[in-house]
Amino acid sequence: MVDATNLRAMVQIGYDATTLGAHDLYMGIDYLRTLLGEVPLTVVSANVHDEATGELVVEPYVVVDKGGVKFAITGVLDSEIDLRTHRDVETHGVTVGEPYEALGELVPQLREMADFVVLLSHTGLPRAKDIVAQVPGIDFVLVGNHSAYSKEPYEIEGTVFIQPGYKGQYFSDYRLSFDAEGEYAGYTGTSFPLDDRVPSDASMALLLKEHKLAVEAASKDRAAEQARIREAKKKELEGYKESCIGVNDSCRRCHEAQYEKWEETAHAHAFETLEEGNQSTNPACLKCHTTCSLNLPEDGSVSVEVSLRSVQCESCHGMGTEHARDGSYGAVVEATCANCHDEENSPDFDLATYLPKVAH
Ligand code: HEC
Ligand code: HEC
Ligand code: HEC
Ligand code: HEC
Repeated sequence: MVDATNLRAMVQIGYDATTLGAHDLYMGIDYLRTLLGEVPLTVVSANVHDEATGELVVEPYVVVDKGGVKFAITGVLDSEIDLRTHRDVETHGVTVGEPYEALGELVPQLREMADFVVLLSHTGLPRAKDIVAQVPGIDFVLVGNHSAYSKEPYEIEGTVFIQPGYKGQYFSDYRLSFDAEGEYAGYTGTSFPLDDRVPSDASMALLLKEHKLAVEAASKDRAAEQARIREAKKKELEGYKESCIGVNDSCRRCHEAQYEKWEETAHAHAFETLEEGNQSTNPACLKCHTTCSLNLPEDGSVSVEVSLRSVQCESCHGMGTEHARDGSYGAVVEATCANCHDEENSPDFDLATYLPKVAH
């Protein structure tokens, strides 16, 4: 994926132009534009359009002058390519036009402006061959999105193919020669792996080191943040589990009379009410239609245990673990009811009429 580091590296290496690949659109077009705005790098593409405006995302071509010889450089992206985006990004925001159409129009114009036409073809080899066969006038093709590299350049119907491999593992050194009259006299060149035999450039090594440090720091921050969230969630769940015992595991044993009365009330069936409405997993409802669930995580990741479903004794009396025998446990006040009987869910609530219906 394109990022600030590899754009800066390309500037440092001295690229005259590069083109858009599928990974460059992974974070969406707005992100790409921001990055490109920060570096003096020429990116050309003749068939990648802004989905919203229909305009080309970058310039379709550039003409560079090398010692009096003019090269027109353009690029295309495979229109069949699978453009995936990062999960945080809704859309890449582009449409990719037919490369044949875009180049059919553009290449004749480029021939007027320059001595040689160079195509950066992010299409893989088969499509690149197809394009060259259908669009006459392309002198050099750099084949992108194709993993196999070719040590030597080769020619098909007068077009020179250069296959530099991928992931920057090889370096392609191709040179054009001209005779004394300045007439083009052919090319020579080769690709070679960038292994230990190629000395590393100090400023590039520094750029890479900075990049690795930044990535490592960002990953550590992310890991720490995730650990913090996991820890918080664990605490929340522990709090929820410990808080109540449930009527059948406790209260009923010693307070059978109250239990029988409670069973007759609407409270004992509050969970069934949610089930009837297919809302039995909605944390926004479980909060009041179950016991001790006021702190349920809001993302629905926890379902309420069977033992704590419906509005049980502990909803009004508090956690059974705090049960004393001195009369201090379980005093119920109007505010206890108001936790659930609020304006929105119980507009008719009136303690004098409601309390007798649940008393025991
Ligand atoms: C703030 C607490 C609270 C929340 C949140 C809540 N309810 Fe209720 N719900 C109540 C109370 C209290 C009553 C009883 C109202 C009354 O009769 O005065 C009730 C009654 C109901 C009834 C009527 C029951 C009957 O048959 O009489 C239904 C159905 C219901 N709730 C469904 C839901 C659903 C679905 C959600 C979530 C979208 C939800 N509730 C969220 C507190 C709540
Ligand atoms: C809707 C709230 C609510 C629920 C649910 C509830 N109670 Fe009560 N309970 C009260 C109120 C109100 C009192 C009256 C005393 C008070 O004001 O503290 C009371 C009193 C009691 C008392 C005191 C002795 C008595 O009979 O006067 C016991 C014991 C008791 N409840 C047990 C239970 C048990 C066991 C359950 C579950 C099966 C239960 N309660 C469910 C509200 C509730
Ligand atoms: C091991 C038996 C036992 C269990 C289990 C038990 N209680 Fe009690 N509870 C008692 C006794 C004993 C009292 C003292 C008053 C009495 O003699 O009724 C009492 C009293 C109460 C009172 C009246 C206030 C008080 O402190 O005297 C409430 C309310 C109450 N219990 C609710 C509950 C609830 C809710 C549960 C379940 C979470 C529960 N009890 C579980 C034995 C029990
Ligand atoms: C944990 C939340 C919660 C608490 C606390 C609570 N209730 Fe409720 N109550 C509900 C829910 C939910 C319903 C609806 C049950 C259903 O029908 O599904 C309800 C229903 C009722 C009903 C039946 C209403 C009807 O129209 O049939 C009465 C009466 C009632 N509650 C009284 C009380 C009183 C009095 C208190 C306080 C002492 C209280 N409740 C405390 C959640 C609660």
